[in-house]
Amino acid sequence: MAGQGTEGTAAHRGVQSGDDDPGAAIDDGPPAGLLSPIAARRSTRAFDPDRPVEPAALRRVLEAARWSPSSGNAQPWAYVVLDDGAPEARERARALLRRGNAWARAAPVLLLATASTTFPPKPGKPARANPHAWHDVGAASLALALQATAEGLVSHPMAGFDREGAQAAFGLPEGVDAVALIALGHPGDPADLPPDLAAREGARSRRPLGAVARRAHWDGPPLG
Ligand SMILES: Cc1cc2nc3c(=O)[nH]c(=O)nc-3n(C[C@H](O)[C@H](O)[C@H](O)COP(=O)(O)O)c2cc1C
Repeated sequence: MAGQGTEGTAAHRGVQSGDDDPGAAIDDGPPAGLLSPIAARRSTRAFDPDRPVEPAALRRVLEAARWSPSSGNAQPWAYVVLDDGAPEARERARALLRRGNAWARAAPVLLLATASTTFPPKPGKPARANPHAWHDVGAASLALALQATAEGLVSHPMAGFDREGAQAAFGLPEGVDAVALIALGHPGDPADLPPDLAAREGARSRRPLGAVARRAHWDGPPLG
């Protein structure tokens, strides 16, 4: 979550909560490659409830997910689209949000990101577990988020919803996991948010590059 500290545990090497870096790697010299659009993506919380997502833009956002890489090219992602074409289903999704994510009720679109957790059977090869399914759904959802940014939209992924409830409410079969709910829409006015959330709209922090990349070994010399 925005502004959340990262403690210096073994699993989070050498990073104390005060070490967050607002983005030195990105500010180092002129923007190169895709760093600018990547840094421009934000999980903000203010949505315009009265401005629907244009159907063509929604298709392009989902198209971006479709081109993502995946283990064995299994493409384990699928998105349940909950928009004004399915208002009752969208209402069911809104009811599954945890209290802290009530702001997402204003988003005109919710996307339920799902993962097929088995590789489908092939001739001579039975179905087997796909241990990278969630990884690949995350990659697809980032592509989706970057396209949303390019469309002038906000996409905000959420773990804070009733995953089991979503499983039942949207008919996910066994072997398909509800991974995240993604709020999608045009940005709204942060002044419409509760003051604590409005204050977080501007906040951003990242662990330094040296904590993210080390050469040769977990404890090797940090890059950056
Ligand atoms: C899998 C996942 C689950 C998240 N769950 C929530 C959530 O339940 N509520 C929320 O407000 N933000 C949630 N976020 C958004 C993160 O807080 C956000 O990505 C992080 O603070 C970095 O901010 P940025 O996306 O604007 O760079 C989630 C993000 C991811 C990737």
